[in-house]
Amino acid sequence: MSTISIIAALGDDNAIGKQQQMLWHMPFDMKRFKDLTTGHAVIMGRKTFESLPNGALPNRKNVVLTTLPEAVFLDSFACESMHDALNLCEKEDEVFMIGGAMVYQQALKMADKMYLTRVHHTFEDADTYFPEIDFTLWDEVEHRDFPADEKHPYAYTFHTYVRKDPATKAPVYQHKN
Ligand SMILES: NC(=O)c1ccc[n+]([C@@H]2O[C@H](COP(=O)([O-])OP(=O)(O)OC[C@H]3O[C@@H](n4cnc5c(N)ncnc54)[C@H](OP(=O)(O)O)[C@@H]3O)[C@@H](O)[C@H]2O)c1
Repeated sequence: MSTISIIAALGDDNAIGKQQQMLWHMPFDMKRFKDLTTGHAVIMGRKTFESLPNGALPNRKNVVLTTLPEAVFLDSFACESMHDALNLCEKEDEVFMIGGAMVYQQALKMADKMYLTRVHHTFEDADTYFPEIDFTLWDEVEHRDFPADEKHPYAYTFHTYVRKDPATKAPVYQHKN
């Protein structure tokens, strides 16, 4: 079975977006995202796909969730349910849930791993938030702090968490073997 991983960048207040866009430009976080996800499958919501500046992410299997029948997304697979999306990725070693909030909400219950970048700022104009995380369910296995600099307007931290106990995963989205 694939490792299901969440990857997200979130403010101190869990903010992740505003008017269908990101709230910051943080190149080192973008590099981490690219390094981790390249060569793997990424699952995203229709709104996140539509917010990508250049369409589907290159060198990754792009899977877009939508309830819209007949939806077509260039260089991507459209799926009508999370179950279908995971089945489409069942041969992948790691599948990344890349947002947005609606997808993170579902992914949080079934993920094995989370790569979170905490952007140390409160974004009062945000309109989209990562869901509340129960950190008692997770072990932190990576923690790297970085200061703000000329390319990064805010200090930030790379965290990696692994689920302590697979029994706490929601069975509803487990895909077929
Ligand atoms: N900071 C970060 O790391 C990060 C990462 C990604 C996105 N974002 C931000 O997040 C915001 C977008 O998030 P969002 O929550 O509004 O939208 P979203 O999760 O990207 O997309 C929501 C849409 O996905 C489809 N969908 C989701 N789950 C589904 C399921 N189980 N089955 C079928 N369809 C499903 C539905 O599409 P239909 O309406 O077509 O049915 C739904 O309206 C943007 O501001 C974006 O910039 C931030």
